Amino acid sequence: MADQQALKIEAAREALKFVEDGMRLGIGTGSTAAEFVRLLAERVADGLNVIGVPTSERTAKQCRELGVPLTTLEETPELDLGIDGADEIGPELALIKGGGGALLREKIVAAACREMIVIADETKLVDTLGAFPLPIEVNEFGLGATKAAIERAAEGLSLSGEIRLREREGKPFVTDGGHFILDASFGRIREPRALSDALHAIPGVVEHGLFLDMASRAVLAGAQGVRMLQA
Ligand code: A5P
Repeated sequence: MADQQALKIEAAREALKFVEDGMRLGIGTGSTAAEFVRLLAERVADGLNVIGVPTSERTAKQCRELGVPLTTLEETPELDLGIDGADEIGPELALIKGGGGALLREKIVAAACREMIVIADETKLVDTLGAFPLPIEVNEFGLGATKAAIERAAEGLSLSGEIRLREREGKPFVTDGGHFILDASFGRIREPRALSDALHAIPGVVEHGLFLDMASRAVLAGAQGVRMLQA
Protein backbone atom coordinates (compact mmCIF):
# COMPACT_ATOMS: atom_id res chain seq x y z
CA MET A 1 0.00 0.00 0.00
CA ALA A 2 2.79 2.36 0.98
CA ASP A 3 4.53 1.53 -2.29
CA GLN A 4 1.40 2.19 -4.30
CA GLN A 5 1.10 5.58 -2.61
CA ALA A 6 4.71 6.34 -3.56
CA LEU A 7 3.87 5.50 -7.19
CA LYS A 8 0.88 7.82 -7.13
CA ILE A 9 3.16 10.60 -5.89
CA GLU A 10 5.65 9.84 -8.69
CA ALA A 11 2.91 10.07 -11.34
CA ALA A 12 1.63 13.32 -9.83
CA ARG A 13 5.15 14.79 -9.73
CA GLU A 14 5.72 13.97 -13.39
CA ALA A 15 2.38 15.47 -14.42
CA LEU A 16 3.25 18.66 -12.60
CA LYS A 17 5.95 19.24 -15.24
CA PHE A 18 3.16 19.96 -17.74
CA VAL A 19 1.80 22.80 -15.62
CA GLU A 20 2.93 26.22 -16.81
CA ASP A 21 2.69 29.64 -15.24
CA GLY A 22 -0.66 31.29 -15.96
CA MET A 23 -2.51 28.06 -16.71
CA ARG A 24 -6.17 27.46 -15.92
CA LEU A 25 -6.40 23.93 -14.55
CA GLY A 26 -9.01 21.24 -14.05
CA ILE A 27 -8.17 19.59 -10.75
CA GLY A 28 -9.19 15.96 -10.26
CA THR A 29 -10.49 13.89 -7.38
CA GLY A 30 -9.18 10.79 -5.63
CA SER A 31 -6.06 9.70 -3.81
CA THR A 32 -3.75 10.25 -6.82
CA ALA A 33 -5.22 13.66 -7.64
CA ALA A 34 -4.85 14.59 -3.96
CA GLU A 35 -1.09 14.01 -4.25
CA PHE A 36 -1.08 16.25 -7.31
CA VAL A 37 -2.88 18.99 -5.36
CA ARG A 38 -0.35 18.70 -2.54
CA LEU A 39 2.59 19.08 -4.93
CA LEU A 40 0.85 21.83 -6.88
CA ALA A 41 0.29 23.76 -3.64
CA GLU A 42 4.02 23.65 -2.94
CA ARG A 43 4.69 25.23 -6.34
CA VAL A 44 1.98 27.83 -5.76
CA ALA A 45 3.59 28.70 -2.42
CA ASP A 46 6.85 29.21 -4.36
CA GLY A 47 5.14 31.68 -6.71
CA LEU A 48 3.56 29.62 -9.51
CA ASN A 49 0.55 31.51 -10.83
CA VAL A 50 -2.30 29.14 -11.68
CA ILE A 51 -6.01 28.94 -11.08
CA GLY A 52 -8.09 25.78 -10.97
CA VAL A 53 -11.60 24.36 -11.16
CA PRO A 54 -11.98 21.52 -8.63
CA THR A 55 -13.91 18.39 -9.66
CA SER A 56 -15.45 17.79 -6.22
CA GLU A 57 -16.19 19.46 -2.91
CA ARG A 58 -13.45 17.27 -1.44
CA THR A 59 -10.85 18.59 -3.86
CA ALA A 60 -12.13 22.16 -3.40
CA LYS A 61 -11.61 21.84 0.37
CA GLN A 62 -8.09 20.50 -0.06
CA CYS A 63 -7.22 23.30 -2.48
CA ARG A 64 -8.57 25.95 -0.11
CA GLU A 65 -6.67 24.49 2.84
CA LEU A 66 -3.41 24.39 0.86
CA GLY A 67 -3.82 27.77 -0.82
CA VAL A 68 -4.42 26.71 -4.44
CA PRO A 69 -6.48 29.51 -6.05
CA LEU A 70 -9.87 28.34 -7.32
CA THR A 71 -12.27 29.49 -9.97
CA THR A 72 -15.51 28.16 -11.46
CA LEU A 73 -16.61 27.20 -14.95
CA GLU A 74 -18.92 30.24 -14.84
CA GLU A 75 -15.96 32.58 -14.39
CA THR A 76 -13.56 30.47 -16.44
CA PRO A 77 -15.40 28.26 -18.94
CA GLU A 78 -12.28 27.20 -20.84
CA LEU A 79 -9.38 25.46 -19.16
CA ASP A 80 -5.87 24.70 -20.39
CA LEU A 81 -5.10 21.43 -18.69
CA GLY A 82 -6.93 18.88 -16.59
CA ILE A 83 -5.11 16.45 -14.31
CA ASP A 84 -7.07 13.58 -12.80
CA GLY A 85 -6.79 9.96 -11.69
CA ALA A 86 -8.68 6.95 -13.05
CA ASP A 87 -9.93 3.59 -11.90
CA GLU A 88 -8.97 1.88 -15.14
CA ILE A 89 -7.04 2.96 -18.22
CA GLY A 90 -7.75 0.94 -21.35
CA PRO A 91 -6.78 1.04 -25.03
CA GLU A 92 -6.71 4.53 -26.62
CA LEU A 93 -6.74 5.93 -23.08
CA ALA A 94 -10.40 5.11 -22.60
CA LEU A 95 -11.03 5.37 -18.88
CA ILE A 96 -13.33 4.19 -16.15
CA LYS A 97 -13.69 6.90 -13.54
CA GLY A 98 -16.01 7.58 -10.65
CA GLY A 99 -14.74 5.23 -7.97
CA GLY A 100 -14.67 8.28 -5.74
CA GLY A 101 -18.13 9.36 -6.85
CA ALA A 102 -17.05 12.55 -8.64
CA LEU A 103 -17.55 11.39 -12.21
CA LEU A 104 -20.11 14.00 -13.30
CA ARG A 105 -18.04 17.01 -12.29
CA GLU A 106 -14.90 15.24 -13.47
CA LYS A 107 -16.40 14.78 -16.92
CA ILE A 108 -17.76 18.33 -17.13
CA VAL A 109 -14.36 19.71 -16.16
CA ALA A 110 -12.46 17.34 -18.49
CA ALA A 111 -14.70 18.45 -21.38
CA ALA A 112 -13.80 22.07 -20.64
CA CYS A 113 -10.05 21.35 -20.82
CA ARG A 114 -7.96 21.68 -23.97
CA GLU A 115 -5.91 18.72 -22.72
CA MET A 116 -6.43 16.08 -20.07
CA ILE A 117 -3.65 14.11 -18.44
CA VAL A 118 -4.53 11.05 -16.41
CA ILE A 119 -2.21 10.09 -13.57
CA ALA A 120 -2.05 6.66 -11.99
CA ASP A 121 0.07 3.82 -10.79
CA GLU A 122 0.47 1.25 -13.53
CA THR A 123 -1.89 -1.29 -11.91
CA LYS A 124 -4.70 0.80 -13.44
CA LEU A 125 -3.65 -0.12 -16.98
CA VAL A 126 -5.88 -2.84 -18.50
CA ASP A 127 -6.37 -4.56 -21.87
CA THR A 128 -10.15 -4.28 -21.67
CA LEU A 129 -12.16 -1.98 -19.42
CA GLY A 130 -14.66 -3.44 -16.99
CA ALA A 131 -13.03 -5.39 -14.16
CA PHE A 132 -13.67 -2.26 -12.10
CA PRO A 133 -17.46 -1.85 -11.72
CA LEU A 134 -18.68 0.97 -13.94
CA PRO A 135 -20.11 3.85 -11.88
CA ILE A 136 -23.34 5.22 -13.34
CA GLU A 137 -24.72 8.42 -11.80
CA VAL A 138 -28.52 8.37 -11.76
CA ASN A 139 -31.38 10.51 -10.64
CA GLU A 140 -33.01 9.35 -7.41
CA PHE A 141 -36.43 9.65 -9.06
CA GLY A 142 -37.30 6.50 -10.95
CA LEU A 143 -34.34 4.54 -9.61
CA GLY A 144 -35.96 1.12 -10.17
CA ALA A 145 -37.01 1.92 -13.73
CA THR A 146 -33.60 3.39 -14.52
CA LYS A 147 -31.85 0.30 -13.18
CA ALA A 148 -34.10 -1.95 -15.28
CA ALA A 149 -33.42 0.20 -18.35
CA ILE A 150 -29.67 -0.09 -17.73
CA GLU A 151 -30.01 -3.88 -17.50
CA ARG A 152 -31.89 -3.98 -20.81
CA ALA A 153 -29.35 -1.70 -22.49
CA ALA A 154 -26.53 -3.91 -21.23
CA GLU A 155 -28.27 -7.08 -22.40
CA GLY A 156 -28.51 -5.56 -25.86
CA LEU A 157 -24.70 -5.47 -25.86
CA SER A 158 -24.39 -8.97 -24.39
CA LEU A 159 -23.36 -7.55 -21.03
CA SER A 160 -24.74 -8.67 -17.71
CA GLY A 161 -23.76 -8.58 -14.07
CA GLU A 162 -24.77 -7.16 -10.76
CA ILE A 163 -25.83 -3.53 -10.62
CA ARG A 164 -25.58 -2.24 -7.05
CA LEU A 165 -26.70 0.99 -5.50
CA ARG A 166 -23.60 2.50 -3.89
CA GLU A 167 -24.01 2.97 -0.17
CA ARG A 168 -22.09 4.71 2.56
CA GLU A 169 -22.78 3.91 6.20
CA GLY A 170 -25.95 2.01 5.29
CA LYS A 171 -27.45 4.87 3.27
CA PRO A 172 -27.31 5.61 -0.46
CA PHE A 173 -24.15 7.49 -1.38
CA VAL A 174 -25.12 10.97 -2.63
CA THR A 175 -22.90 12.74 -5.15
CA ASP A 176 -21.95 16.43 -5.05
CA GLY A 177 -24.74 16.92 -7.60
CA GLY A 178 -27.32 15.26 -5.33
CA HIS A 179 -27.62 12.02 -7.33
CA PHE A 180 -27.17 8.33 -6.60
CA ILE A 181 -24.59 5.96 -8.09
CA LEU A 182 -25.19 2.48 -9.49
CA ASP A 183 -22.02 0.39 -9.76
CA ALA A 184 -22.35 -2.03 -12.68
CA SER A 185 -20.19 -5.16 -12.66
CA PHE A 186 -20.43 -5.92 -16.36
CA GLY A 187 -17.04 -7.59 -16.65
CA ARG A 188 -15.20 -6.98 -19.91
CA ILE A 189 -16.66 -4.03 -21.80
CA ARG A 190 -15.64 -4.76 -25.39
CA GLU A 191 -17.65 -1.95 -26.96
CA PRO A 192 -17.31 1.03 -24.60
CA ARG A 193 -18.66 3.49 -27.15
CA ALA A 194 -21.81 1.50 -27.78
CA LEU A 195 -22.35 1.14 -24.03
CA SER A 196 -21.76 4.87 -23.53
CA ASP A 197 -24.35 5.73 -26.19
CA ALA A 198 -26.88 3.24 -24.80
CA LEU A 199 -26.51 4.61 -21.26
CA HIS A 200 -26.80 8.21 -22.44
CA ALA A 201 -30.12 7.32 -24.08
CA ILE A 202 -31.69 6.42 -20.70
CA PRO A 203 -33.43 9.48 -19.20
CA GLY A 204 -32.64 8.62 -15.55
CA VAL A 205 -28.93 8.30 -16.25
CA VAL A 206 -27.22 11.58 -15.44
CA GLU A 207 -23.75 10.46 -16.58
CA HIS A 208 -21.54 7.38 -16.56
CA GLY A 209 -17.91 6.74 -15.76
CA LEU A 210 -16.69 5.82 -19.25
CA PHE A 211 -14.39 8.65 -20.34
CA LEU A 212 -13.79 8.14 -24.05
CA ASP A 213 -11.62 10.42 -26.20
CA MET A 214 -10.97 12.68 -23.23
CA ALA A 215 -7.49 11.89 -21.95
CA SER A 216 -4.71 12.73 -24.37
CA ARG A 217 -1.88 11.49 -22.18
CA ALA A 218 -1.41 9.07 -19.28
CA VAL A 219 1.41 9.31 -16.78
CA LEU A 220 1.89 5.86 -15.27
CA ALA A 221 4.22 5.13 -12.40
CA GLY A 222 5.52 1.62 -11.80
CA ALA A 223 8.41 -0.18 -10.16
CA GLN A 224 10.54 0.44 -13.27
CA GLY A 225 9.87 4.19 -13.27
CA VAL A 226 7.41 6.54 -14.89
CA ARG A 227 6.17 6.09 -18.45
CA MET A 228 3.97 8.17 -20.64
CA LEU A 229 1.24 6.96 -22.98
CA GLN A 230 -0.38 9.13 -25.62
CA ALA A 231 -3.82 8.66 -27.16
C1 A5P B 1 -13.13 9.93 -8.52
O1 A5P B 1 -14.49 9.95 -8.76
C2 A5P B 1 -12.46 9.02 -9.47
O2 A5P B 1 -12.76 9.19 -10.81
C3 A5P B 1 -10.97 8.97 -9.24
O3 A5P B 1 -10.26 9.78 -10.11
C4 A5P B 1 -10.59 7.56 -9.43
O4 A5P B 1 -11.48 6.80 -8.61
C5 A5P B 1 -9.15 7.27 -9.08
O5 A5P B 1 -8.96 7.42 -7.72
P1 A5P B 1 -7.62 7.03 -7.02
O6 A5P B 1 -6.59 7.97 -7.52
O7 A5P B 1 -7.90 7.22 -5.56
O8 A5P B 1 -7.33 5.60 -7.35
